[in-house]
Amino acid sequence: MDRLVLVSDAFGICMWKRFSGLPTQSHKLTVRPLGRTIEASERSTLLDAALDAGVPIPFSCNVGDCGSCICRLISGEVEELNASAVISPAQRQAGFLLACQTRARSDVTVELPGADGAIENHPTLKTEGTIVAAEHLTHDILEIQVELDTPMAYTAGQYAELAIPGVLEEGRNYSFAAAPAKGERNLLVFHIRHVPGGAFSGWLHNENRVGAKLRVTGPHGQFALRSSTSPILCVAGGTGMAPILSVLEQALLDGVQREVTYFFGCRQQRDLYAIEAMERLAADWPVKFRFEPVLSEEPMGTEWQGNRGFVTQLIRDEGEMQVMRAKGKKLSDHEAYLCGPPGMIDSAFDILVGFGVDPNKIFFDKFVDKRHTTG
Ligand SMILES: Cc1cc2nc3c(=O)[nH]c(=O)nc-3n(C[C@H](O)[C@H](O)[C@H](O)COP(=O)(O)OP(=O)(O)OC[C@H]3O[C@@H](n4cnc5c(N)ncnc54)[C@H](O)[C@@H]3O)c2cc1C
Ligand code: FES
Repeated sequence: MDRLVLVSDAFGICMWKRFSGLPTQSHKLTVRPLGRTIEASERSTLLDAALDAGVPIPFSCNVGDCGSCICRLISGEVEELNASAVISPAQRQAGFLLACQTRARSDVTVELPGADGAIENHPTLKTEGTIVAAEHLTHDILEIQVELDTPMAYTAGQYAELAIPGVLEEGRNYSFAAAPAKGERNLLVFHIRHVPGGAFSGWLHNENRVGAKLRVTGPHGQFALRSSTSPILCVAGGTGMAPILSVLEQALLDGVQREVTYFFGCRQQRDLYAIEAMERLAADWPVKFRFEPVLSEEPMGTEWQGNRGFVTQLIRDEGEMQVMRAKGKKLSDHEAYLCGPPGMIDSAFDILVGFGVDPNKIFFDKFVDKRHTTG
């Protein structure tokens, strides 16, 4: 990339000159908890510098769309190349950054949220698979099962990139919607909402695609249950249910004994799904498990007796109630797992931090698409 630099000649006349390339100063980049310190040129993103030095910062899209390379700034000065919808101003203020969209401007220390052992270092696999089943979960959410040519290992909460060979080569990210249980799986499950005007979801929803081939690359992502004794707060909107379901199913299999509160936001009753799976989880969960669906656009006068409003209002109510309670768990005691539309996650993040939840204990996967990342 060219840069304009102000240069003074032998007669003191100043002029702008175009130089190829960016400044070449280097800084020290320390990646925790890997404990590696490397040189990072001001020309490289933190991600490129790390990968060049063999430091495995996870990544997928390399353009600020997927959130795989999310880190926290511990110290130092950085320059952000493109403001990505994956990180809100509040999250930026809390130190979150995307390594693929950030350059060092001084010696810098960053921390990888997924490098604390929560996510195993699964090899990234690029394989093909066949859609072997498709079932409507709601009017606009389809569950598909994809049988892979080569089995894939992943951690509950992660996602894969799906492309359609010969039709749509640019992949789209979809969270695994089932617990990996143990070892590798060759049958993957995804919940895919039909996005109006969407290339992948339109292709999938417009015809019966059972038998069609997909290219599957993964696993990717940092969203996974951390090892802790804190109560868990899950907040999901729409197909944000998919990774939460996978995480909770896996936690049950692993014998996790932590209280769960789960707020699930949808528009109307016709958008609610996985309710039976939640009832089963609640029945089998060894300690308290509270599942609260909430509808933001359910018409008045229907038989719906449950919560109404935005999912963020439920979080606020919970925070206010717990502030008033002398005893019992407070919102600030929780570790939070947020998944779904970027706007919902940004608001939920702000409210949680406002009620004293440690930003280090808020994990999120934003379902960004081209509406959020183009333009
Ligand atoms: C980590 C992660 C996990 C995800 N998990 C899931 C999941 O489990 N389930 C799920 O349903 N979704 C999930 N998503 C969202 C998913 O990846 C897709 O973005 C979504 O399905 C839309 O893909 P599409 O090809 O149908 O639409 P796209 O073709 O990508 O278009 C999306 C929207 O943008 C508009 N658009 C297209 N091009 C432009 C442009 N140039 N400028 C402006 N607008 C444009 C389209 O009209 C459409 O409304 C996840 C996203 C991420 C990042
Ligand atoms: S690799 Fe950085 S956001 Fe996708």
